[in-house]
Amino acid sequence: MIVAGVMSGTSADGVDVALVRIGTRGKAGLGQDGAQVKLVAHEAFPFSRTLRQAILEAMNARTIATAELARLSWRLGIAYAEAVAETMAMHGCAAKLVGCHGQTLYHQAKPEHYLERRFACTWQAGEVAVMAERLRIPVVSNFRPADVAAGGQGAPLVPLADYLCFRHARRTRVLQNIGGIANLTAIPAAARPEDVLAFDSGPGNMVIDALMQRLFGRAYDREGRIAARGAVIGEVVSEAMRGPFFGRRPPKSAGREEFGREFAEKFLAACRRRSQREADAVATATALTAESIAVAYRRFVLPRMSAAGSGATGAGVDYVVSGGGARNATLMRMIGERLEPMGARLTTSDAMGFPAEAKEAMAFALLAWRTWNRRPGNLPAATGARRAVVLGQITDVVAHA
Ligand SMILES: Nc1ncnc2c1ncn2[C@@H]1O[C@H](COP(=O)(O)OP(=O)(O)O)[C@@H](O)[C@H]1O
Ligand SMILES: [Mg+2]
Repeated sequence: MIVAGVMSGTSADGVDVALVRIGTRGKAGLGQDGAQVKLVAHEAFPFSRTLRQAILEAMNARTIATAELARLSWRLGIAYAEAVAETMAMHGCAAKLVGCHGQTLYHQAKPEHYLERRFACTWQAGEVAVMAERLRIPVVSNFRPADVAAGGQGAPLVPLADYLCFRHARRTRVLQNIGGIANLTAIPAAARPEDVLAFDSGPGNMVIDALMQRLFGRAYDREGRIAARGAVIGEVVSEAMRGPFFGRRPPKSAGREEFGREFAEKFLAACRRRSQREADAVATATALTAESIAVAYRRFVLPRMSAAGSGATGAGVDYVVSGGGARNATLMRMIGERLEPMGARLTTSDAMGFPAEAKEAMAFALLAWRTWNRRPGNLPAATGARRAVVLGQITDVVAHA
């Protein structure tokens, strides 16, 4: 079955569409390993400057007009529909099912008081009816709420796909995605689903992007060229690493609340107290991402791996990077310098058939396929949910109508 996975993350850079072939292997429907995923095509569709601006404003808004939110949600539905239609046309390949993550406008992983009740909640925008109508293909969407309703944090959801696609009998694998936020899935050799550890390590590209916008008027640091010209201000990195997020034990998740505009402003002010060079600030933000990844690995992953019998030194560990951050050569160099002495072998997901920018979209194609087949899509060990649940809703279409 060809499934289209549609992803747009916290960077609000655009829509990624992955067309994947999902086949069942062995006795379909029995084990957790009944699916094989192969990429057929991937295309990226950057948001226009105005659409990106509207999304970023809606994410950060203290107050916003209801009409604005409704229109934005429909506008996103149109963008998703066009992206899928264009990808299918470009590759002459028709999907039978779509999995659409939507755009997270609000994610509150922890229960809070609201109108006499205490609860967590999450909201991904993007009107799916528009997609189903235009594409005439059933769409699975709204993946996160079922996990939140079951007591989970609603994130991360990619770990189940990571477990199904990357687990290895003899090697430990850490899947590190570097989007706006950086998150990892650690899968010990021969792991069972409950052995998987997954959490957000901290900022991914979010702080780098914010400084690039502010200092250079550009959306991001292409290939990490600016960071490569700058010098890392070590004290600023160590000061930031003393922040509460990094010491907290997993499961934990971060968003714009932790590492958004406000954090970037303070970080920049700290850099400027020590250096006036703009490239130094970008290099320092890049080092913060690398350092937080290395610290997460040393503090939380390595102890768990040795407990699971994979060797305390981290020998036999593949550290597999995906997401836009994998294309930042300076960031990759900084991560390698920190992880390789700990015995991890740094690589990108490309070599394993999952192009770095397509991996998350591929995961949502697999999650959609699981929902379509009434299989659970969350990993309670990763989200903290009470149980495994079938994720999302299916917007169906009448066949051949
Ligand atoms: N060629 C590149 N060089 C450096 N950074 C890049 C490159 N391509 C993408 N990125 C970074 O990756 C980000 C997008 O990553 P992505 O995985 O799509 O994140 P998200 O899931 O948050 O949307 C961009 O905002 C940018 O910071
Ligand atoms: Mg993106």
